[in-house]
Amino acid sequence: MEIKKVGVVGCGLMGSGVAQVAAMAGFPTVVREVSNELLSKGLGGIEKSLAKFAEKGQITAEQKAASFARLQPTLKLQDFAECDLVIEAIIENLDRKRELFRELDAIAKPEAIFASNTSSLSVTEMMTATRRASQFLGLHFFNPVPLMKLVEVVKTVATDAAVLESALAYARAVGKTPIVTSDRGGFIVNRLLVPYLLDSIRALEEGVGTIVDIDNGMKLGCGHPMGPLTLNDFVGIDTTFYISEIMFNEYREKRFAAPPLMKRMVAAGMLGRKSGKGFYDYSDPKNPKPNRELER
Ligand SMILES: NC(=O)c1ccc[n+]([C@@H]2O[C@H](COP(=O)([O-])OP(=O)(O)OC[C@H]3O[C@@H](n4cnc5c(N)ncnc54)[C@H](O)[C@@H]3O)[C@@H](O)[C@H]2O)c1
Repeated sequence: MEIKKVGVVGCGLMGSGVAQVAAMAGFPTVVREVSNELLSKGLGGIEKSLAKFAEKGQITAEQKAASFARLQPTLKLQDFAECDLVIEAIIENLDRKRELFRELDAIAKPEAIFASNTSSLSVTEMMTATRRASQFLGLHFFNPVPLMKLVEVVKTVATDAAVLESALAYARAVGKTPIVTSDRGGFIVNRLLVPYLLDSIRALEEGVGTIVDIDNGMKLGCGHPMGPLTLNDFVGIDTTFYISEIMFNEYREKRFAAPPLMKRMVAAGMLGRKSGKGFYDYSDPKNPKPNRELER
């Protein structure tokens, strides 16, 4: 099925990026939020990001304006009636997502494909809220969406092969490299990344090395662009904690269990960059200092 018109539900951090790349690739794109304030905030973010692309000469002023004009902001789900692909990027809550898909199922045309951008929830459980199991999959974009090249395309046991092909073609059309994965907690990237992030915290907890030495180990020894504790701060300690809980419940394996230090940090509000303190102190954001309190 050819995708001509796209719908994006949610215009937060991820939804705004997903809508932006669709519009930049030439798709008329309906984007929905729950209030005018949130819609304006999301669109403001898109405008700024498009301006940066234009400043860097990656798009022309005309392309910037045309991309923005392809966005159709709305508060109404009815506006998704003509979309060929609807991508959901609302908060990470299974009940809310199921409720949304149930409503959308009654509005969208029968042949439309539904996709969720979930990082950790079961795509299959969302699918069962609709009557279009064979046209349901995951499209897991990465943050920041306009810059990150990867999309995990998540097939369930019920996804039709032609629908999977359409989703792969769509991911390529918006300039991304798709990889195919099955609906198992964490997909490919988080299945490998989350145990690594948790293990770096365990290494600190067990006194294997200091914060800076653990980070330098992986940066300088393995060529990673940033060390694992810096990456924990960047992603948000609470976000990784939440994902690890879901993955632990799915697999019941120790490698997905959050270490006690991580639980304590979340409880204390040390969430990383966004709270100003995590494994590093960001009082001077350009020159983060290791949080020595944790090195005991
Ligand atoms: N943040 C990341 O790095 C990241 C990466 C990949 C995937 N994800 C996934 O993307 C999804 C969105 O995450 P986010 O970080 O953008 O969250 P966010 O909180 O920035 O945005 C979610 C937005 O959805 C809106 N919303 C809630 N219910 C809605 C509804 N019924 N209709 C329309 N809008 C609604 C909220 O008002 C909010 O603005 C989650 O499933 C998350 O797991 C996040």
